[in-house]
Amino acid sequence: MRLKDKVAIVSGGANGMGEAEARLFAREGAAVVIADVIEKGESVAADICASQGRARFIRTDVTSETNWASTIAETVREFGKLDILVNNAGISGSAVGDHDLLDGWMKILNINATGVFLGTKLAAAEMMKAGKGSIVNISSIMGFVGSADGHPGYAASKGAVRLYTKAAACRYGPHGVRVNSVHPGYMPPMLNGTNGGTRSSKIEFTPLRRLGEPMDVAYGVLYLASDEASFVTGTELVIDGGYIAQ
Ligand SMILES: NC(=O)c1ccc[n+]([C@@H]2O[C@H](COP(=O)([O-])OP(=O)(O)OC[C@H]3O[C@@H](n4cnc5c(N)ncnc54)[C@H](O)[C@@H]3O)[C@@H](O)[C@H]2O)c1
Repeated sequence: MRLKDKVAIVSGGANGMGEAEARLFAREGAAVVIADVIEKGESVAADICASQGRARFIRTDVTSETNWASTIAETVREFGKLDILVNNAGISGSAVGDHDLLDGWMKILNINATGVFLGTKLAAAEMMKAGKGSIVNISSIMGFVGSADGHPGYAASKGAVRLYTKAAACRYGPHGVRVNSVHPGYMPPMLNGTNGGTRSSKIEFTPLRRLGEPMDVAYGVLYLASDEASFVTGTELVIDGGYIAQ
């Protein structure tokens, strides 16, 4: 087992990629806290426990520093420590209305970027007590390139995550805490709202000629979270079928 006896928090772990990561981590031996705003996290945690895994749902809004502090404290109280944080919670550029609206910009930046900053800061403080830990921040290919789809604040938020990750890696590395970013390409569930034409054009533009699946990303996150990546920090793992290789 690649995460035997580790303790992990996965934000946004109730659905999509976060759910895939939570389930995979549990199968690989970790106790997993699903930190999300939707109640589905309760049933995902129950399902993991029913399959002999260890998991718990803790309602957490990643934009709240108070929520983060109590989720981390509760995790340590229940499972004894914190080894891994996956900052996966996020909203898409289509989840807010008009592309030019300031409140859309603020909402996206708040959840996708500020949420990652708060989670990283508080988790790193806990991990530094033990002198080790791994934080994986979910950015996007939109952290590298722009797109006319959705609110432009999405690319801004994901670019912020990409470079904040490097700053955090420099800051926390001397204390044994690694911080890396993962950059998924197009895949469900976020892509589900997209129309058929957009979908097929994205497939056509992808060298591997398919959309991704949450498990494609989960395996990459597992590697960075595990001790196999013990000399890897401040780096970027793109998982996009080659979409931005051209
Ligand atoms: N699916 C894609 O095409 C794609 C591509 C690149 C990057 N991503 C990124 O991957 C991550 C997961 O996306 P997904 O496709 O699985 O989407 P998803 O909508 O299925 O999952 C996102 C999860 O985050 C949770 N969440 C939203 N706001 C929150 C908040 N304030 N506090 C706590 N939890 C909150 C949601 O409840 C949900 O469970 C996101 O950061 C997204 O930006 C997705």
